[in-house]
Amino acid sequence: MTTATQLLHVDPHQPDPAVIAVAAQTLAAGLLVAFPTETVYGLGANALDAAAVARIFAAKQRPTTDPLIVHLASADQLDRVAIDIPPVVHALAARFWPGPLTLVLRRGPDVPPNVSAGRDTVAVRVPAHPVAHALLTACNLPIAAPSANLFSRPSPTTAQHVLDDLAGRVDIVFDGGPTTIGLESTVIDLTQTPPVLLRPGGADVTALHALLPDLRVPAAPLITDATEVAAAPGSLLKHYAPHTPLFLLRGDDASAMRFIHAAVRALHECGQRTGILIPDEEFAAYADLHAELVGLGPAHDLATIGRYLFARLREVDSLGVDVILVRGVAEADDGGGLGPAIRDRLFRAAEGRVLDVTDPATLQTLLRLTSDA
Ligand code: TXA
Ligand code: MG
Repeated sequence: MTTATQLLHVDPHQPDPAVIAVAAQTLAAGLLVAFPTETVYGLGANALDAAAVARIFAAKQRPTTDPLIVHLASADQLDRVAIDIPPVVHALAARFWPGPLTLVLRRGPDVPPNVSAGRDTVAVRVPAHPVAHALLTACNLPIAAPSANLFSRPSPTTAQHVLDDLAGRVDIVFDGGPTTIGLESTVIDLTQTPPVLLRPGGADVTALHALLPDLRVPAAPLITDATEVAAAPGSLLKHYAPHTPLFLLRGDDASAMRFIHAAVRALHECGQRTGILIPDEEFAAYADLHAELVGLGPAHDLATIGRYLFARLREVDSLGVDVILVRGVAEADDGGGLGPAIRDRLFRAAEGRVLDVTDPATLQTLLRLTSDA
């Protein structure tokens, strides 16, 4: 399928109502519009139109087993898409909406089953971005929107990322500049007792616990097989992945630095080029290596690391390297904020390949894995 993709520039703070109206009509006609939210760009379609929703899955090449998030202009519209809404939703909405929190509720009768991959639940969020808000208000429809990337590619945080993946597959792409949070919303399933955190994201987990004291936080990302319909459908391990094999390094700073030096030299001798994603402060330490260095941001500034993480993953992937090494972020830096979400996205980008840099055998493991590739 291919279509002429129209790129529309908008002021992210004060989008032109005439431009918004064009996109609202496009959505009402059952077509696809990619738009910025405060988390990542979304690929939107009318959530009440099963054929429009099917176009999202086709454009993204997304398995129809992975359900979509429905976006609303305000919490007042919840009744249009959900039933049996538990009272805590009102407190959560008052504290977190508009914003990066998605709630899984019982699906209402007007929402076609394909939005939710056949489940009797529906994920809902009220985004804060002025462009998303203007669009939702203008079309007066619930909009189903996954991240506007091809399935299993890093989520898009700029209009260019959207075009890189979806040009010719979507009718309108808004360019409202880079998104501010850069990581997707936090997803909580309120249809289970106790409620379960399905995906760590942009919402502060400490603040969530205050309203949901019994919230269950699964210890590690669920590792599932892509052929399986998992209990938490978004937790497919191959997700956000660059094309180049990426390895997540676990261990203390000194061991990691020794390991990176040894690994880059050994890989270079085998004719392999390495890309390294590191905190900005560590650039000088690797300046003498034959490696492509890409900065994650200031080491302890998780908001900045989160904002640019997907862009940096795409960037390092475009440098023509054979192997990517990345340092994780330390739990000591979390402070209730984005640490769990950043670790989750890096783990998935690595497709579970985590290397213990304190183990002397790890270098051989890396060389074996990269020569097999
Ligand atoms: O920040 C965000 O959430 C972005 C912006 C565009 O809003 N959207 C986004 O959508 O990240 P997507 O489709 O890439 O991720 C949606 C996640 C997936 O992990 C999906 O499995 C989960 O939400 N999800 C959606 N509906 C669900 C449901 N009914 N039950 C359980 N999980 C659901
Ligand atoms: Mg996604």
